[in-house]
Amino acid sequence: MKIQEVRSTAKEARIATHSHIRGLGLRDDGTCEPVAAGFVGQELAREGAGIVVDLIRSKKMAGRALLLAGPPGSGKTAIALAIAQELGPKVPFCPMVGSEVYSSEIKKTEVLMENFRRAIGLRIKEIKEVYEGEVTELTPEETENPLAGGAGGYAKSVAHVVLGLKTVKGTKQLKLDPSIYDALIKEKVSVGDVIYIEANSGAVKRVGRSDAFATEFDLEADEYVPLPKGDVHKKKEIIQDVTLHDLDVANARPQGGQDILSMVNQLSKPKKTEITDKLRKEINKVVNKYLEQGVAELVPGVLFVDEVHMLDIECFTYLNRALESTLSPIVIFATNRGMCTIRGTEDVVAPHGIPLDLLDRLMIIRTQPYTRDETRAILAIRAKTEGVPLDDEALAKLADLGGEATSLRYVVQLLQPAAVLARVAARESVSVDDVEDARELFLDAKASARMLAEHEARYIH
Ligand SMILES: Nc1ncnc2c1ncn2[C@@H]1O[C@H](COP(=O)(O)OP(=O)(O)OP(=O)(O)O)[C@@H](O)[C@H]1O
Ligand SMILES: [Mg+2]
Repeated sequence: MKIQEVRSTAKEARIATHSHIRGLGLRDDGTCEPVAAGFVGQELAREGAGIVVDLIRSKKMAGRALLLAGPPGSGKTAIALAIAQELGPKVPFCPMVGSEVYSSEIKKTEVLMENFRRAIGLRIKEIKEVYEGEVTELTPEETENPLAGGAGGYAKSVAHVVLGLKTVKGTKQLKLDPSIYDALIKEKVSVGDVIYIEANSGAVKRVGRSDAFATEFDLEADEYVPLPKGDVHKKKEIIQDVTLHDLDVANARPQGGQDILSMVNQLSKPKKTEITDKLRKEINKVVNKYLEQGVAELVPGVLFVDEVHMLDIECFTYLNRALESTLSPIVIFATNRGMCTIRGTEDVVAPHGIPLDLLDRLMIIRTQPYTRDETRAILAIRAKTEGVPLDDEALAKLADLGGEATSLRYVVQLLQPAAVLARVAARESVSVDDVEDARELFLDAKASARMLAEHEARYIH
């Protein structure tokens, strides 16, 4: 009996430094709200990103690529993550950093391929026969089992489980197999939960807690759902979102059928074996067949390659080709480099370290350095998110420093040390002095470079 729950292999984006960004902050007509969704300024880039989001949503952008280029700390990574938030959880978004391709165990192109497939989603719709409702009763009925006891004792085992399910229309009592009882326990089902059980496979899915049980003083973080409508026993459309990589992983073993159902079923069994090219081709074949039949729908997602200048010529050649495949996601690159040598070549210099033939395919969005006021507004938002109370003067001082420092990031990073210093001095909020002190303790890159130049003789060469 298989539980058809999808084990996602999506990577978790590290967004702690971007936790104040909640989206692109655009109006309905696509124009930019100067300060919204945690975003300040950078209007052109945000509007451009908004159009890209629309193109992705309307599926007009598959196989194309975008480049975010601009100075360090100007919000490129933030924009990419905002795009992910705008697209929502149903569109796969796979973030990676250029240098991830360098591994001693896996080929560079293999790493790229894996990430490509993490960024291509498949929405599988199936009509299934289910029993759905709010659990009104859950009683395992036990029998004495002479075999399982050991040492002469009689152990009890579950013979079957009686389950009561209620919908708006009626109630039904079911007598179920012990294996389903195990599944119920695994899903932590208790009376008052809304669940459904697939009739064919016996898979149990807990939808949430029935909202009749929602209390005013609710301590558990639970999702409340309405009592299901219709009969307990019915046909229900079940939608599953998986990525091609989920399918690769799930099928990276010899057994298992080649139809989509058994491919999805494999997802519940985690075990990593090698994913071969042959396997990927097989999966593509099956996926293409199901796309043709309309059983599944392709959801091209986003592969975000940060620090793209870290890729080398081999990777770029591979990308050129991969972007042309029919199963290709939208690729977003980001870089803060200007003209530089392409990695893996002797002396081929190109803008952003990206070969011209790939550059030619890209749409480029530029990010600009921030003005003092913008830096100030971003700092205010960051201080609030990090829970650092700031004096107005301290904020102004930090904004000034932002102009001198190498990047906005430096002043954002000064917030916490300054907060520690304020606490030591038993101050309620961070003052100018704390900012000054923190700045003396931690240099920004420019100041550090200056120091190095001044005291060059003292260092080892
Ligand atoms: N316009 C903005 N509004 C609000 N916060 C911003 C904005 N731009 C940048 N930030 C924040 O400033 C910090 C630095 O930005 P980010 O990491 O996106 O820069 P980057 O362009 O990716 O730099 P790098 O080239 O060094 O990777 C992050 O914490 C980010 O969330
Ligand atoms: Mg970045």
